Amino acid sequence: MAGASQKRAGVLGATGSVGQKFILLLAEHPDFELYKLGASSRSAGKSYKDAVKWRQTATIPESAQSLAVVECTTKEFADCDVVFSGLDADVAGDIEKDMFEHGLVVISNAKNYRREPTVPLVVPLVNTHHLDVIARKIESARSQGVEKPGYIICNSNCSTAGLVVPLAALSRAFGPISHVTVTTMQAISGAGFAPGVLGFDILDNVVPYISGEEEKLEWETAKIMGNIADDDSFAPLSDMLVSAQCNRVAVSDGHLECVSFKFVSERKPTIDQVKQALRDYKCEPQNLGCSSAPKQAIYVLEEPDRPQPRLDRMRDNGYAVSVGRIRPDTIFDFRFVVLSHNTVIGAAGSGILIAETLLGRGLL
Ligand SMILES: NC(=O)c1ccc[n+]([C@@H]2O[C@H](COP(=O)([O-])OP(=O)(O)OC[C@H]3O[C@@H](n4cnc5c(N)ncnc54)[C@H](OP(=O)(O)O)[C@@H]3O)[C@@H](O)[C@H]2O)c1
Repeated sequence: MAGASQKRAGVLGATGSVGQKFILLLAEHPDFELYKLGASSRSAGKSYKDAVKWRQTATIPESAQSLAVVECTTKEFADCDVVFSGLDADVAGDIEKDMFEHGLVVISNAKNYRREPTVPLVVPLVNTHHLDVIARKIESARSQGVEKPGYIICNSNCSTAGLVVPLAALSRAFGPISHVTVTTMQAISGAGFAPGVLGFDILDNVVPYISGEEEKLEWETAKIMGNIADDDSFAPLSDMLVSAQCNRVAVSDGHLECVSFKFVSERKPTIDQVKQALRDYKCEPQNLGCSSAPKQAIYVLEEPDRPQPRLDRMRDNGYAVSVGRIRPDTIFDFRFVVLSHNTVIGAAGSGILIAETLLGRGLL
């Protein structure tokens, strides 16, 4: 049963890979009530349990099973306090725009608005200070008599989310980073369910191409680690070079990334200082006491063969990232391996943590 103080949450694309994770994470959430579920016209009109091809290891939460799936229209979602979008990018643009232009708060996993200079692109373990722009927007709208202004906040691409957390921790501790190379090994759930990765293509195989992924890792990292300009637009870092190579591997969940990087400063930290800075790293959702915030944002693993997707992706319910194999690099300064859960901190969980941060700041 919904608690009196819970916010009403809508989920767009509720039947998909990201959508199913939203259902699991929101079903027992203390701050949000699963209120409206949307998907395509193929699913609309059915109960959630009949519409979805459920692919999670946990069973479908009872609170979601009999909810009716509706079309993704502004009218259907009008009385939601927040709308989480796990929509396919082909359709997300128009649907989300209509919603935020008509007073809804949309937190999106789709790529459509990520590049907009005035739209925050937020990884909640890294750059919730970019939400200051939203706070000012709300204040300005209220001063003009608009009580509930609509807006959109974007989550990053799933592979970007894992990369930026340790990079942000290290640049906070030791100053800017000038060069980054990253090679990813990405799980098949990252490709979605419709049609998804075919078993025949991925079994006994690695696919060394994910459309658009390398570009996203490169420019998104610069926007997330960048600053807010005087006009409240986002100014991507221009002096950090990122080179990405992306691969799809036969893992269900969890993106593993091999990273090498170099600081701008000639005064380099030691390996122990790097490890300590990662362990000490704290983010705003932790400081606000958000209910899904990880106990530890970054786990530093000392075993030589960790992190591994199957063993480490669920640390702190998938909201933490794990970093291992931290060692000197022969070309840059250091190298390590980072693991993040692509549908939790890389997608649905990230959206929820952003909403919890808005709530913690009194903005929702
Ligand atoms: N998977 C990840 O790890 C990940 C991570 C970060 C970001 N993302 C992004 O998140 C979004 C969702 O990805 P996904 O992997 O969850 O995709 P997916 O499994 O293919 O799910 C797509 C969802 O969109 C719905 N949909 C399709 N056409 C629609 C329409 N015309 N109107 C309304 N709903 C429609 C589908 O509903 P039906 O079932 O009714 O067709 C389904 O619920 C994408 O933009 C993706 O790039 C994914």
